[in-house]
Amino acid sequence: MKNIVILISGRGSNMEAIVRAMESEGWPARIAAVISNKPEAKGLEYAQARGIPTAVVANKEYASRAEFDAALQETIDRFAPDLVVLAGFMRILTAPFVEHYAGRMLNIHPSLLPLYPGLGTHQQAIDAGDKEHGATVHFVTAELDHGPIVAQARIPVLPDDTEDTLSARLLVEEHKLYPYAVRLFVEDRLSIEENGDVRIKDGALA
Ligand code: GRF
Repeated sequence: MKNIVILISGRGSNMEAIVRAMESEGWPARIAAVISNKPEAKGLEYAQARGIPTAVVANKEYASRAEFDAALQETIDRFAPDLVVLAGFMRILTAPFVEHYAGRMLNIHPSLLPLYPGLGTHQQAIDAGDKEHGATVHFVTAELDHGPIVAQARIPVLPDDTEDTLSARLLVEEHKLYPYAVRLFVEDRLSIEENGDVRIKDGALA
């Protein structure tokens, strides 16, 4: 049974998708906690309603990034996580924090990485005239939105797409992609090769 800690900053719809898939597919895992850096994060309400332990480590209350990350790490580790899942967690993390969770922290980013790290990904894809947009689940490394790629979802960019329509269509795919990737981790089917590629071990997913 693997312990998963999910970090959110807002709506938490990816967190919800993971909780739902875990419960309906019966993964050998449990959500040990949902932790937010924002007390007002909507996703906390969903977690609480499901009886999932929640915690807030408010970045505003810390003078430096290092102090915040240290407090966050202490809170996360109280739940003995096998996996830390960043689900719309809007913070740049320090290298020691990322190192501490090396190989056991995943993030979802709304672009086809290595394209468009950082914010504003949907508009960037539209402005560039891309035919395709997408989302990426990757292991977290110290460099923002880099790190070994586990899986990607692709959608077409339509001629009349706006940032809103494109992000809404992509979110639907994120809600399938992230549970898929987390499940692979939970089932011990992911390994990171020496060259940084992620290998997915065989085995049918239901
Ligand atoms: C998603 O688009 C995710 O890719 C990005 O932030 C958004 C989070 O949405 N990292 P939610 O909080 O999971 O609803």
